[in-house]
Amino acid sequence: MADAARLGAIDTVMHEDRLFPPSAEFSAKARIPSLADYEALWNEVAADPVAFWEKVGREELHWFEPFTETLRWDEPQSQPQVAEWFVGGKTNASYNCLDKHIAEGNGDRIALLWEGEPGDTRRISYVQLHKHVCKFANALKSLGIQKGDRVSIYMPMVPELVIAMLGCARIGAVHSVIFGGFSAEAIADRNNDAGAVAIITADAAWRRGKVLPLKQTVDEALKKSPTVKHCIVLDRVNEAVHWTPGRDYWWRELTRNASDDCPAEPMDSEAPLFILYTSGSTGKPKGILHTTAGYTLWSKKTFEWVFDHREGDVYWCTADCGWITGHSYVTYGPLAAGATCVLYEGAPDYPDKDRFWEIIDKYNVTLFYTAPTAIRAFIKWGDDYVDKHDLSSLRVLGSVGEGINPEAWMWYHRKIGGERCPIVDTWWQTETGGIMMSPLPGAIATKPGSCTKPLPGVIPKIIDEVGDECGPDQGGMLTIAHPWPGMLRGIWNDPERYQEVYWSKVPGKYLAGDNARCDKDGYYWIMGRIDDVLNVSGHRLSTIEIESALVSHPAVAEAAAVGRPHELKGEAVAVFVTLKNAPPSDELRDELKKHVRKEIGALAQPDDIRFTNTLPKTRSGKIMRRLLRDIAAGKEAVGDTSTLEDYSVLASLRQDEE
Ligand code: WT7
Repeated sequence: MADAARLGAIDTVMHEDRLFPPSAEFSAKARIPSLADYEALWNEVAADPVAFWEKVGREELHWFEPFTETLRWDEPQSQPQVAEWFVGGKTNASYNCLDKHIAEGNGDRIALLWEGEPGDTRRISYVQLHKHVCKFANALKSLGIQKGDRVSIYMPMVPELVIAMLGCARIGAVHSVIFGGFSAEAIADRNNDAGAVAIITADAAWRRGKVLPLKQTVDEALKKSPTVKHCIVLDRVNEAVHWTPGRDYWWRELTRNASDDCPAEPMDSEAPLFILYTSGSTGKPKGILHTTAGYTLWSKKTFEWVFDHREGDVYWCTADCGWITGHSYVTYGPLAAGATCVLYEGAPDYPDKDRFWEIIDKYNVTLFYTAPTAIRAFIKWGDDYVDKHDLSSLRVLGSVGEGINPEAWMWYHRKIGGERCPIVDTWWQTETGGIMMSPLPGAIATKPGSCTKPLPGVIPKIIDEVGDECGPDQGGMLTIAHPWPGMLRGIWNDPERYQEVYWSKVPGKYLAGDNARCDKDGYYWIMGRIDDVLNVSGHRLSTIEIESALVSHPAVAEAAAVGRPHELKGEAVAVFVTLKNAPPSDELRDELKKHVRKEIGALAQPDDIRFTNTLPKTRSGKIMRRLLRDIAAGKEAVGDTSTLEDYSVLASLRQDEE
């Protein structure tokens, strides 16, 4: 254990020293082929970020008008602190994702390989996608929607969702994608906060063979959304819908006679591109604002670096466009890089639990990006589903959204990656616009559970409670010391909250809200959210380390660790555990306590272990430790539960109480 003497540092109890270097064969072909190359690039950018981004910005984006100032950053007096990138330039995100490739002679390349949940498919080239986007952009214009107007999007994962996003970007409308699982109430809140003038939806969506009535939910939301004047409806499922003439339009009819010529609007670099509401773990959701040039460049560059993308790759990110991962790594990043992307509409277990492996096999996917919550489900479902399919096309595997427990990492590495594919554990946030820390797969040897090193242009600093920088293996608050092009530009309608949340605690540095430590090799380990730290007998412990120790036991599928008030220790360690197949028993409970004690020490040994069938998660798959903390303390769950995936989980957890 690291010396805990440092005031306010978080102890680490994790012992993970496995190291997986990329194969010589992989590195030989990689964009960044060695650690020395990575270090040289990182140092070059750190020494003069402005010079680096000036060059990359000019070379890699299309400009209607060149920018005159690379970065405007008045630190740290300005309130609120907002960086501006590529000032004075004019570009367009949709142009960079479409027209640019056509102009460069790559228009016939496949942009989207779409697989519907019921098995219907579509292949769409860049030329075809461009046509669809232009027609749709003209349809938006025909309703009077203009540059700067906000447009909500509430759709299933169909090509039209990507078309709607790019259509908005093309004319300078600001999209706000709302995940298709949110309630009418959540949609209305977001419409109202953004002042949306229109909403784009579908009659319904397929989910595990059932029909989710999206239009009906939107109808409900629009009763409380006075700013929304238009509702565009895609006919996906052929469901009967209620119709409000003068407000509702079928996508098909609106685009039928629209021209497929719609030149992209030259947008200021800093013109808003989209708002995305994050499931803030407390309080009302925050509308994170991203702008045109910096975001587009950051999502493109990070996609190319982290996935080592090259021509001929088939890339699949399983995220929904309702989340930032779907913005940056389904839509903008890969399309700006001219990639061929699989888009899948449905659930991973429909019609059976091998649907993902079937898709990888069918499309010869080479780059695959998914979330730890999915990986833990695959492990629970068993290897037989994987063994039925040929996954030998894969060459890079990605993970995002939560820390990946080392044992889940090992399974992903062995079972999906055939021990040959580098795993890129990517740490980032809605706010950061794109990946911030991740292995570069040809350059950086991986350690299970570590997001390894910062990307070029990212300067992390770990700060303790009194504001000093932490030493090796001391956990503290993760901050970023210099602006980067993809960073958020604010919280929509709430500059005070923006300043308060990200810039007030550690002056001059972006506060990520996560704790992290950096080991003696310069590898970063995310330790969970700042608010989730456990304080046991004066030792501050990280949730992920205790959870990973539990997940390394063969009976455990998932685990969530929280603190509950304890008279003597300050906090006791309470854990909630889901099991793979083993039945819950007192013996297993004792065994798990011993297991944690053996793996990471007596200090972290759980005081309470509760077995449960499911853990409460946000709709994007993150464990909601805040709710569990209340349950562990015997309180009613308080605060915002609008992002909770399944309310019944809460009820069943209470029943599971001893
Ligand atoms: C929070 C951001 C990043 C896009 C999807 C989620 C956690 C994310 C990792 C990772 C450990 C991670 C952090 C972060 N997180 N990736 N690789 N290792 N933790 O975006 O909803 O804005 O959530 O997710 O706590 O702050 P988000």
